[in-house]
Amino acid sequence: MELTNLTCEQKGAIYYITINREKQLNALNKQTILELNKVLCHCQEDKSIRVLILTGAGEKAFVAGADIKEFTDFSKKEGEELAQFGHDLLFTKIAKFSKPVIAAINGFALGGGLELAMAAHVRIATANAKVGQPEVSLGLIPGYGGTQRLTQLVGKGKAFEMILTGDMISAAEAYQIGLVNYVVATQEELITKAEAIAARMIKNSPCALKKSIKAINAVYGNIGLQNEIELFGQCFGTEEFKEGVSAFLEKRKPNF
Ligand code: CAA
Repeated sequence: MELTNLTCEQKGAIYYITINREKQLNALNKQTILELNKVLCHCQEDKSIRVLILTGAGEKAFVAGADIKEFTDFSKKEGEELAQFGHDLLFTKIAKFSKPVIAAINGFALGGGLELAMAAHVRIATANAKVGQPEVSLGLIPGYGGTQRLTQLVGKGKAFEMILTGDMISAAEAYQIGLVNYVVATQEELITKAEAIAARMIKNSPCALKKSIKAINAVYGNIGLQNEIELFGQCFGTEEFKEGVSAFLEKRKPNF
């Protein structure tokens, strides 16, 4: 499998996926999403793989979001297609994956990065990690499931606060509100903790794990996700979107 933006490795029954665009803080561009999809398909087929651990390269970021530079001039239709593409190839695929996926959050998990971690089944963060949904500062809303999965994980009140302020929160606060399962002090401990949880899963029946994931997912419907995709698309092409992305590219605060 030829991969340019990921490094992958299997050790025993665990498959490690590292998103490797460190200079761009591991932002999810189209190529990375395609590669993640390819790797997920491989993991699905290979029976020797029982648990996946997903992390980001370096010590700064898990994933700093969707790659803003790829969609600065998108129309509403292209914006909607971007979200749909991400859901189909990656986010919904992970959420419904038949094997447990553990997100090891090694730094910033923002926008699509937090959405990726929330699509996974278990989240562990290092103490220096910061998480948030800053899309409103770009004139957007979360488009990879954030409005739905954040609300499911932390409740409506905290989801409103996080999405409407766009503020980042610390790993400690993320733990306090149930957004991450564990916080560890260092990056080494992050993988050790993920491996310990994976080991406890691996000793269980793969078939029962698959059905547990399916049953838990059945609590939630897809209508909200589809609605989010449409609303995300509607944000594109607006003057506020143009100001939001220009401000990001020019490294300044937006003026709405
Ligand atoms: N997309 C594209 N490039 C990104 C990026 C992103 N989401 N996040 C960071 N980068 C790039 C920066 O542009 C910069 O590149 P250059 O060196 O070429 O200028 C590089 O990564 C390093 O970033 P910074 O210089 O900004 O680093 P910093 O330490 O000053 O700030 C940060 C770190 C606070 C995480 C800041 O990078 C940031 O705010 N990033 C954007 C976060 C964001 O808005 N995410 C949401 C994206 S939209 C989305 O995800 C939509 C969706 O739901 C589908």
